Amino acid sequence: MFGVEISGLGIYIPQKRLTNFDLEKIMDTSDEWIYQRTGIKYRYVVEDGLSTSDLALFAAKEALNEAEKHGIKDIDYIILATNSPDYIIPATSSVLQGKLGISAGSMDVFSGCAAFVYALIVASSLIKSGLSKNVLLVGAEAISKYLDWSDRSVSILLGDGAGAFVLSRINDKDRGIIDCNVGTDGSKAELIYIPAGGTKEPFSEKSIEDKKIYLRMQGRDVFKSVVSILPSEIKKLLDKNNLKPNDIDLYIFHQANIRIINAVMENLGIDEKKVYNNIEKYANTSAASVPIAFYEAYRKNMIGPNSLVLFSAFGAGFTWANVLWKL
Ligand code: UT7
Repeated sequence: MFGVEISGLGIYIPQKRLTNFDLEKIMDTSDEWIYQRTGIKYRYVVEDGLSTSDLALFAAKEALNEAEKHGIKDIDYIILATNSPDYIIPATSSVLQGKLGISAGSMDVFSGCAAFVYALIVASSLIKSGLSKNVLLVGAEAISKYLDWSDRSVSILLGDGAGAFVLSRINDKDRGIIDCNVGTDGSKAELIYIPAGGTKEPFSEKSIEDKKIYLRMQGRDVFKSVVSILPSEIKKLLDKNNLKPNDIDLYIFHQANIRIINAVMENLGIDEKKVYNNIEKYANTSAASVPIAFYEAYRKNMIGPNSLVLFSAFGAGFTWANVLWKL
């Protein structure tokens, strides 16, 4: 068994920023409603002509450059977590490989907003087992392309962006992933979904007319499910590892709604100094939210060698995943 080290980090945030006030001009909403209900003030939207693989490319280049400074050259796998792929076929990780021009295997992880945390488990397992030495792991979303801007209940929530980790094998087996827990409730698959475009309901003029090509969400039900599941799942993981909530140095939660994060923190008695949030700036960037938040917390020196980090995310599926990590 080996350990895992984060040898490079990168992010990319698109140039075009939309404020809540911008949204007030195109739909029946208000800055006050959005900020109070979600904690969001801004979101960024991908430039015309760019797609998820482009956002992934920019974040990946920064992470790869940093890893190269640590002597990391060869990447074995590219794992891309996304819910807004460039195409239905092939995987966006293949497109990313082509743009990077590096020789590596590639795969996408597509498990809702929890996809990056799932991908972190997959990448870490490859490295710990000795099957891989270096993995480029990216969470990237151009999810704004799936939004119906006349649906105020969903479109105000999301934003685009990308975050990347280079994960590398080290001999200290106590560093990297320590433990994880994951779960799915597929009976809630239609809480967050795009009804048309898959094999169940292929694209048709009718599906476009009925706006079934856009993301739909039962926000209130998602909210209730998360706050009832996540605290007990995190507690189970901590208990299993003989840790108390405030033994963790940094919590990186999926940035979906500040009220959800606050409810989890309150339930577990987590000190607010141990949580890094940036939902106000970027909104919910789906599978990109966890690596973007980690990048910012790391660059602000909120953590250092040997810090304990808990990554926690949930999303469409309905899926959730928690990872306990030692830097
Ligand atoms: O990463 C994916 C996971 N997704 C999530 O985590 C989403 C979780 N859910 C949420 O974040 C919240 O449920 C929302 C922010 C989506 C909604 O907040 P809420 O407090 O649950 O509001 P609600 O859906 O119960 O709606 C309350 C009212 C409704 O009006 P009535 O029926 O009370 O007259 C809505 O029509 O707010 C109205 N509303 C809005 N008003 C102004 C809904 N969206 C908006 C809006 N602006 N954008």
